[in-house]
Amino acid sequence: MSTAYLNGTFLPLDRAQVSVMDRGFLFGDGVYEVIPVYNGKLFRLIHHLKRLQNSLDGVRIGNPLTDNEWTEILTELVVNNAGEDQAVYLQVTRGVAAKRDHAFPIDTRPTVFAMSMPAAAVRTSTSEAGVKAITLPDIRWQQCDIKAITLLPNVLLRQQAIDAATAEAILVKNGYATEGAASNLFMVSNGVLVTPPSGPDLLPGITRDLVLELAAANGIPFREAGIPEQELAQAAEIWLTSSTREISPVTHLDNRIVGDGQPGPLWRRMIQLYQDYKEALRRGEAS
Ligand code: PDD
Repeated sequence: MSTAYLNGTFLPLDRAQVSVMDRGFLFGDGVYEVIPVYNGKLFRLIHHLKRLQNSLDGVRIGNPLTDNEWTEILTELVVNNAGEDQAVYLQVTRGVAAKRDHAFPIDTRPTVFAMSMPAAAVRTSTSEAGVKAITLPDIRWQQCDIKAITLLPNVLLRQQAIDAATAEAILVKNGYATEGAASNLFMVSNGVLVTPPSGPDLLPGITRDLVLELAAANGIPFREAGIPEQELAQAAEIWLTSSTREISPVTHLDNRIVGDGQPGPLWRRMIQLYQDYKEALRRGEAS
């Protein structure tokens, strides 16, 4: 049984319990992060803690811990769990209130929970084969930059993708593709890497930002710009990025072949740069 952290205590995951009056349970009133761990090292921890702070500010929950305290707790959690490669899930809810009331309770202590998950085995073979995706209307709210635990639309959208024998739903809002149900979106068009600009329509993905950093550092032309649905349908390459998927090439969109139906040349280049970055992190030469 893996070790979890709950409100100041490390304990076996199956013994970690919260009250049914927790606002996370009753309202989905909380925020979360997923942080990959490579060779025992938390990937881009500072970026994740900054995004956590933005999410907490966005829903008006005070951060119960300092960055140093988060770092200590998450580092200890990783040490307590087997496996050099893992992923850490953490969530902060508004806490347990005496009665169910939509309005914020007064003087409630946020609930802090973290657990370790097995690393999504880096599916090179799956990556090499590419994945299928479908486009669906974006039925989410207007603050998708907040990493809220309230994920019912994302859950329904992902399940629709699975029911259609695809790996992910790419969401379309006002004629523009925004991101996946749990991933960010890139396309390659006329040799340029394009991803939608950050804003309320999408989560500022940590993987997305690293891909843009690697593009900038390696002379790969890129642009942050809206992706009209019709342009996506004609893209030479489509990628989905997330902490658990890393960079996943989409070879079929809505039952049509993307490019030549194989992961494209720019994906090959970027995944190599990404693996190099991870290797540097493993050696302690990157964060
Ligand atoms: N989801 N967009 C959405 C809606 C997401 O849920 C995620 C990640 C991303 C990618 O962000 P990052 O690169 O920081 O993982 C984009 C996580 C993995 C999840 O919900 O499990």
